[in-house]
Amino acid sequence: MKVAVLGFGTVGAGIYEMLANAKGLEQGPVLVRPGKDDAPFKRTSMEAILAEPGVEAVAEAMGGIEPAFSYAMAALKAGKHFVTSNKALVAAHGIELAAAAREKGVGFLFSAACGGGMPFLHNLSIAVESDLIVSLGGILNGTTNYMLDAMQRRSLGYAEALSDAQRLGYAEADPSADVSGLDALRKIVLSAAVAYDLLPVEGLCHEGIKSITAEDVKRIQARGLSCRLMAKCGPAAGGKVYAYVEPVLFPASAPECSVLDNYNMARYEGKCAGPMVFMGQGAGRWPTASAVLRDLDCILKGRLHMLSPACHEGSADNAACCHSYYVRLPSSMSGCFEAKSYSESDGVSELITKPMSVKAMHELAARLRGEGASLFFAAVED
Ligand code: HSE
Repeated sequence: MKVAVLGFGTVGAGIYEMLANAKGLEQGPVLVRPGKDDAPFKRTSMEAILAEPGVEAVAEAMGGIEPAFSYAMAALKAGKHFVTSNKALVAAHGIELAAAAREKGVGFLFSAACGGGMPFLHNLSIAVESDLIVSLGGILNGTTNYMLDAMQRRSLGYAEALSDAQRLGYAEADPSADVSGLDALRKIVLSAAVAYDLLPVEGLCHEGIKSITAEDVKRIQARGLSCRLMAKCGPAAGGKVYAYVEPVLFPASAPECSVLDNYNMARYEGKCAGPMVFMGQGAGRWPTASAVLRDLDCILKGRLHMLSPACHEGSADNAACCHSYYVRLPSSMSGCFEAKSYSESDGVSELITKPMSVKAMHELAARLRGEGASLFFAAVED
């Protein structure tokens, strides 16, 4: 199967190179920006890609929603299989893309969009055919895991840790999606769509690591804890799901604390199968390209879809998910929380809240920041 590649950045170039040695797959043309067509296999328009004789599949690694969405629809309407590592695209248009693929009888797979090289969505999409998924989630962003690990184990500052993650090819072109938690949120949205036939578009909560400081890291370590950015999802009342991303503080013995560098750890719990855990590199050229190649291989073997025809857009509801939070904020605002423990030094307070809902915590943090507060919060495992 000849595969055209859209994009020749970190992931696109990796896909192109891996295609040279992949069984049953063949290198096709590569779409690049005008002026970047410095090799015979490069093209600068989607029309030229689709006009290329023998192309049966298109692998997209451009990132962003447009023009990726227009190109994806053009490829599917032209009867080409479509695989992508682009979570923003699938979170925004996954249902339309799945419908277009079904109409043409071609494949649409996106396991590289969640967890880099880990076969997480791949296995989840198989598990849902015979089991009920009780819950799912994990560490789903390699950039922020790399940063938190570097800040905690190597005492790097936030800016230095981020620039290392960018240099190593883990971060998005605009890393604000990584550090804000939006990238991990998109991945949990895709996972919900696969597991629950519901792609949540509202009611979601996400808090990233933008507000963690080197001082916070020291305070957290003084408590014998370690911070990871976690994404969580499961069924909620009223045909909804809960789905949110937030930092979580773990004791050093927790398995999450052994997830280092750009690694991810994702899990789902099947009602019958019990917990299944996946760990691997969640970002970077070769892990992500390898997941795209795995999807192409699935298509070769006749496995064409990860989203069922029943998948629809819906809402998340995080009001019933409750736990305690660690909060660092100006002492003048500490009265806004019901605390079960509290300490204060030089006008900065640290407190552990009584259990409160994810929705309430995220809303309160947004309100206090709107009033000018510098604040960091993380869930505490009860
Ligand atoms: N920027 C993403 C991450 C890339 O760091 O996880 C892989 O999806």
